[in-house]
Order: sequence, then C-alpha cells, then structure tokens
Amino acid sequence: MITVIGSINMDLVVQTDDFPQQGETTLGELFTTVPGGKGANQAVAASRLGANVQMVGNIGSDAFGQELLKNLAVNEVEIGGVKESVGSVSGIANILLSGQDNRIIVVPGANYALTPSRIDEVKSLIALSKLVVLQMEIPVKTIEYVLQVCEELAIPVLLNPAPASGFDQQFMSKVAYLTPNETECAKIFGSNMERALEAHPNQLIVTLGSAGARYFDGEKHVIVKGFKTKAIDTTGAGDTFNGALAYGIVEGFTLHEAVEFANAAGSLAVEKFGAQNGMPSCKEVQERLRDKRFK
Ligand code: RIB
Repeated sequence: MITVIGSINMDLVVQTDDFPQQGETTLGELFTTVPGGKGANQAVAASRLGANVQMVGNIGSDAFGQELLKNLAVNEVEIGGVKESVGSVSGIANILLSGQDNRIIVVPGANYALTPSRIDEVKSLIALSKLVVLQMEIPVKTIEYVLQVCEELAIPVLLNPAPASGFDQQFMSKVAYLTPNETECAKIFGSNMERALEAHPNQLIVTLGSAGARYFDGEKHVIVKGFKTKAIDTTGAGDTFNGALAYGIVEGFTLHEAVEFANAAGSLAVEKFGAQNGMPSCKEVQERLRDKRFK
C-alpha cells in the first residue's frame, strides 16, 4: 500500500495566447475545471499504474469537494483517509496556461485543515503503508509530524518538496527519497547541485524536466535521460514522475529502473491537457520504455 498524504485541489484553468501584463486585461481562449492538487495527482498517478493507493487529505464542504472525492474513487484511490472540513472551501489552483508555459497560484483552503491531530486520527491507516508519499502543499507542522510518525513506524517516506518554501534541512535525516526539481533543489541546497547530490547519495533525485532526472549513486553522478515527447500541458508532469517513482520503489525496482520508469510516465502525462488526464497505465509506460526514444 502507498499512502499519499497531501493536497487535493480543483484546478481552474484558463488557456490564453498571452499572459496579461500588470494592469492589463486580455481575452482568454478556454476555461476548464479539472481535478488536481499535488497530493491527489500523485495518488492518481500511482493508482493508474496499478498500485494500491490510499489518500489522506481534506476537502471543503462545497461542490468541488464532492467532485474531488468522486474523482479519487473513480481512479481507485482509497478515500477512507479523506475528510470533509465543515465550513472550509476546497483547495483550488488558479492556472494560467499559454503554450507550454504555466503560472499557478494555489489557495490551500481545506488542505490547511490537515493538521497533526488529523494524522493521529489516521495512524492505523498509515501503519499499513509500504511507502508514504508527501508534498508541501499542507502545513509544515503536519509534514514534520508525519515524518516523526513514519520514523516510529519504520515506514520509508518519499518527499516531493514542492513548493519548497518551508523545507527544513532536518527533514533529510527522516526521508528515504527527496525529489526536487532544479529550482527547488537550488532553494533548498544552494546553487551547487553536484555537491548536494554527492552529500545525499541514492536519496536526492533531482528532476530535470524533459531532460530526465539525476542522482549520485555513491560513486558517480547518474543522469537518467528523459523520453522524446510532444508536450501539450506540463501541469502535473512532476506529480506523475513522483507517483510512478513511488510505484517503482514499492514494486522493488532498482533506483535506476524506478527513475527511468518515472521519466517515461512523466513524458506520457504531458501529451494531454490537465494534470491527471494524461497519466498513463503501466502498459503505456512499458511501451514507451521499449521504444527507447530518448531526448
Ligand atoms: O503539480 C501540479 C498541481 O499543482 C496542480 O494540479 C495544482 O493543483 C497545484 O497543486
């Protein structure tokens, strides 16, 4: 069982030819609402691949909340750990899409009601996990507490430090895997990425967008190349990578195999609109791996 503890958002997506300048009004092309949130996205990604996944998170007592809950269930994510926060609105992400570029503002809403006491309520569910997956769209206090609980229960944790603000260096002693992108890595460890990788062998995995991902295996730097893809919407690509990495780890892949598998999954996810729409099945990932068309 993979337990994802994190955010559940409704993504409010505006597609536009041009981002407006400050003080400017422009006309957009299309408006859509689609399920998102880094936590829910990672849970759906791992579940589509065939993993047993349960979600721990909070939704608001609004129409979005019910839609988000249904979406998790439809994607075969167990929802026993998802609670409705009475009186709160669901988390939303305001996403502006233009070409392959996106700009996102997240308003956490009910996600911030995922407090340490909520973790106590679901401790028996967490105890069932082979791996716990975390991101940083929930209160930092909760992340600290989950790390402490998982240490007590001897459950490994994959932490995707997105967004990276609020990251505490002390988390490193409690996580099995940390998966920042290059910007997040620089924010956490400073500009010398190689030094950071060398200090955390087989633990720090830095994603490089379409170029793939890299880590240090204790002796050498390993760059795992990304796959050729035709990107339509990169929202949720990192989440697909993390969900797929979690799947690979739980399935017993080597770190190299798991990262390559996650790269292939991420390259498929960007080929469709929406964070979760393009998340692939295991068969689709295996086909992409067989093609070996690296970037
Ligand atoms: O990583 C993409 C996600 O970030 C979106 O789905 C949005 O909800 C934000 O949380």
